[in-house]
Amino acid sequence: MNATIVHISDLHFHTYPQNFREWKSKRIIGTGNLFLHRARQFPIKRAKQLVEQIQNMKWDHLVISGDLTQLSLERGFSLARETLEPLLKDPERVTIIPGNHDRYVKHSAANDYYKQYFGEFFGDEEIHVCKLNSDWVIVGWDSAHPNDWLTAAGTVRRSTIRATEKLLLSFPEKTRFVIVNHYPLTFPEGWKFDQFHELYNLIPVRNWILRHPNIRLYLHGHIHRNWTHHLPRVSTPELLLVNSASSTSTPYTGQKSSFHQIDLQEDNVRVTPIMLE
Ligand SMILES: [Fe+2]
Repeated sequence: MNATIVHISDLHFHTYPQNFREWKSKRIIGTGNLFLHRARQFPIKRAKQLVEQIQNMKWDHLVISGDLTQLSLERGFSLARETLEPLLKDPERVTIIPGNHDRYVKHSAANDYYKQYFGEFFGDEEIHVCKLNSDWVIVGWDSAHPNDWLTAAGTVRRSTIRATEKLLLSFPEKTRFVIVNHYPLTFPEGWKFDQFHELYNLIPVRNWILRHPNIRLYLHGHIHRNWTHHLPRVSTPELLLVNSASSTSTPYTGQKSSFHQIDLQEDNVRVTPIMLE
């Protein structure tokens, strides 16, 4: 059975803090960065173009792998929701997980704006689960948490791994899985790795995924360089890792894609890079 996923990431909808409460802590640095770079890098016009382009494509499921906003402000989330609305009509066909910018500063649970504006596309359980068809299942993880001023790292909780392990066992052996998580597990050659920007438990998480050959695909964002990587496994199919960040930023020199269309055909995965028009 075939299914087509459209994968976008790191849209970074932005507004500026309006009052003293919103200016707190890390947002001072974030607002400086926004003022200097991000507002120019993520014009709202490009987000609207992206929505229109995806509306004109044929797809079964939309995946957004985090960083909907820049500063986790409520107006950033409401702008994201309003702009993306044409794509969100059927929550069964949409998976949206949070990124570190969506948990930028500490909030009380009542003020978790990601949950308020996009929680319905994740659900209330430890992991998000969406059965695409009898062959493929999407599993969403929430590894984003607030950090100190100069850190952007995340953590896949033990409870998330336990819940995923239990889920894998509950499906027939032939079922294949797609994990959606904000943080990358691989990096381009020569990449300068910054442990304070990545998953704190990257190595154990990557090894755990590689030990589960039914997990065929890992969709993520976070680093704003689109890529597709392959991790071989001994005597079982490889793991394919797709980075769709950022789908709306102004293109950098040599950029080949803004986002990806992923066709799942029984045992085959075909990834098509697409540029934002
Ligand atoms: Fe991120």
